[in-house]
Amino acid sequence: MPEPTTDLWWLIIIGTIALLLIGSFFIMTVLFSQKRFIKSQREKLEILEKNQRDMQVSRDQLRKLTAHLESIREEERTNIAREIHDELGQLMTVIKMDVSLLKRKIQTKEKILNISETAKDLQSISALADTTIQSIRRIATALRPEILDELGLIDAIGWETNMFQSRTGVKSDFVTNLEKIDLGRDRSTAVFRILQETLTNVARHAYASEVCVMLDREANDLILKVQDNGKGITETELSRERSLGLLGMRERALFLGGEINIFGDHGKGTLVTARVPIKNP
Ligand SMILES: Nc1ncnc2c1ncn2[C@@H]1O[C@H](COP(=O)(O)OP(=O)(O)OP(=O)(O)O)[C@@H](O)[C@H]1O
Ligand SMILES: [Mg+2]
Repeated sequence: MPEPTTDLWWLIIIGTIALLLIGSFFIMTVLFSQKRFIKSQREKLEILEKNQRDMQVSRDQLRKLTAHLESIREEERTNIAREIHDELGQLMTVIKMDVSLLKRKIQTKEKILNISETAKDLQSISALADTTIQSIRRIATALRPEILDELGLIDAIGWETNMFQSRTGVKSDFVTNLEKIDLGRDRSTAVFRILQETLTNVARHAYASEVCVMLDREANDLILKVQDNGKGITETELSRERSLGLLGMRERALFLGGEINIFGDHGKGTLVTARVPIKNP
């Protein structure tokens, strides 16, 4: 039998090395792709866990918001009931007493009817009736801003701004170039409620001496801005989970396809911007 030549030995050695190299390259590729797969699975799991946590936070916020809205509704009912009882009840009683007094005076035959006194009595009854009508309007407005249906959103915002100034003493201006805007009943109510909550916050937290309400239009969006010159809302207050007034405002805007931006400048004031699409998106 012939001996294998040196060349053949070399061929066998090189072939074995090549096979070993290819084998280890293959093993390394498998290991590497496995590691990548595990890494991507871990990332997916982390994203999933984060989404779950976010969802839990949203769910908690939603639950708190619902409870908050319920308590606001309850509080409003209590306020309205008290106002109807205290104000309207009292005014109507006074009117009734005045009328029966007048009736008695007129019915007293022996006494000569004093025309000027009777006119004065009638005048006071009429003034009381006026006060009652004003009270009824005020209570009805608190229930549902009927001013919106009567005046439209733009004038209703102007009216609310004026009322805010006379209620709080904070100098309040309303600036707009818009003459007419048709937002529909629900959208107008939502924008009006956002304004009311923002102004209430100014009165309660800002320690401002001036507030400016601005209404504008950008393309298809209505922009409502409320700028005060108070202490300025902080980042912590903005991100606090129990800031339910702010959350409610955001929810209202989001529901309409819009958004709320709030910016606080320490010691200089707060700017709240609500952007709401004019047409239902
Ligand atoms: N214009 C503002 N200037 C300064 N701080 C503000 C202003 N508006 C809101 N804040 C701060 O942000 C917080 C959150 O406001 P938010 O309306 O959510 O709650 P609230 O007014 O305290 O209670 P409510 O749930 O009854 O509205 C307030 O407690 C206040 O500290
Ligand atoms: Mg509030």
